[in-house]
Amino acid sequence: MKKTMTRYECSECGSISLTMVGRCPACSAWGSMAEEKIANIPSSGEVRAVPISVANIPRQERVPSGISELDRVLGGGWVPGGVVLLGGEPGIGKSTLLLQVCSAMAREGHRVLYISGEESSGQLALRAHRIGAIWEGIDFICQQDYLSIPENVQEYALIVLDSVQAFRLPDESGWAGSPSQVRNVASRAAEISKKFQIPLVLVGHITKQGQIAGPKLLEHMVDVVLLFSGDRNSLNRLLRAEKNRYGSTEELGIFEMSGEGLIPVIDPGRLYWNGSVATVPGAALAVTLEGSRPLIAEIQALTCATPFPYPKRTSRGIEVNRLQLLLAVIERRCALSSCNQDVYVNVVAGLSIDDPAADLAICAALASSLRDQAIAGDCCFIGEVGLAGEIRPTPKTGLRLREAARLGFKCAIVSKREKELDDSIRVIGMESVKDMFERIFT
Ligand code: TYD
Ligand code: MG
Repeated sequence: MKKTMTRYECSECGSISLTMVGRCPACSAWGSMAEEKIANIPSSGEVRAVPISVANIPRQERVPSGISELDRVLGGGWVPGGVVLLGGEPGIGKSTLLLQVCSAMAREGHRVLYISGEESSGQLALRAHRIGAIWEGIDFICQQDYLSIPENVQEYALIVLDSVQAFRLPDESGWAGSPSQVRNVASRAAEISKKFQIPLVLVGHITKQGQIAGPKLLEHMVDVVLLFSGDRNSLNRLLRAEKNRYGSTEELGIFEMSGEGLIPVIDPGRLYWNGSVATVPGAALAVTLEGSRPLIAEIQALTCATPFPYPKRTSRGIEVNRLQLLLAVIERRCALSSCNQDVYVNVVAGLSIDDPAADLAICAALASSLRDQAIAGDCCFIGEVGLAGEIRPTPKTGLRLREAARLGFKCAIVSKREKELDDSIRVIGMESVKDMFERIFT
């Protein structure tokens, strides 16, 4: 006997409840629980496992997207039959980027299909015109609501679905954007992509928390999850892979939004640093790594005496816990106290740093402010700091040093145990943060 079951899924976070509730128990969103019916399926009988040696190895040749920064993040281009989910805040440039990809691929002689559920053909054409993307090979369908895929879909080299939340399948219940519709639309599109071995890009909205909206399952279903981000007040846009079944998730693509669309930033060394450092107390330069690309980050610290018993620790661009840890190291290992000082740390130009190699520059900036002594502007810092106050080697130091030399730095302070050095710059190896302070603040 066929029996249907009902459950409720949150359209914000994907959590599941067996009873209808007005507020999601997991993410506390109001009115986000949508009903979903599941039919029991009969068991398909016996299955047999086969040795992996008899499995067909799929075609692996990549189709370049024509946008160098995107290819870098994808790991060399689109994979036939690969499904990519591109998420990002509204207005960050997802549609612009994909239209530029369509244009670049059409210019190479490919035919591409852009299915838009959010914009009218007029809007799309206007944007295409603005970014110079009027090419023969771009076909588009602008249809709100129902997802329809043309008969001749196998002729295309790329399919873009903008966005997965804007469509619904006619034979399924629920509004466009509801968890079951998002899942069905994505699986229908992915089925076509796999069947005809065409790369597919799904655009996904993100929630206020920065997660891709809709069921978490969506992220499990696709092969690659890309996130497009950027500071609202800056024109820089960063493209990162959150998940990549075909390549690394380390790489970073950098773009700048201009009047003619997104322009890849080929030389990001000076992106977050304007090349000059005012030699004021509290500023230090770090060479951080995003994927395989070194970026110079300017770290500023300001310490200020406070009469209150709980001094403030505020940071922008680095985690506040990391700031507290480094302050403790400086206090205990270098006898440089900040217990009666408010401490503010800022990474210039809205950059956020996770790379532990920036520890040394953060310590230098803090000490420079506490001692009210400036650091030479042509010196950069590369090193991780341990709780014992020791300076630890970092990955790819040679690459960082070469970039620092190229950008005109005269000297770099690294760990004494560092093996990977470069002779294009004067390198000073230091054992501990204490030794380093003695050396730079003479
Ligand atoms: P869009 O691609 O529509 O964002 P998304 O699809 O992620 O919602 O990007 C729109 C923004 O980009 C809009 O605020 C205007 C800006 N923009 C430019 O600055 N230059 C351009 O050439 C284009 C096409 C858009
Ligand atoms: Mg859009």
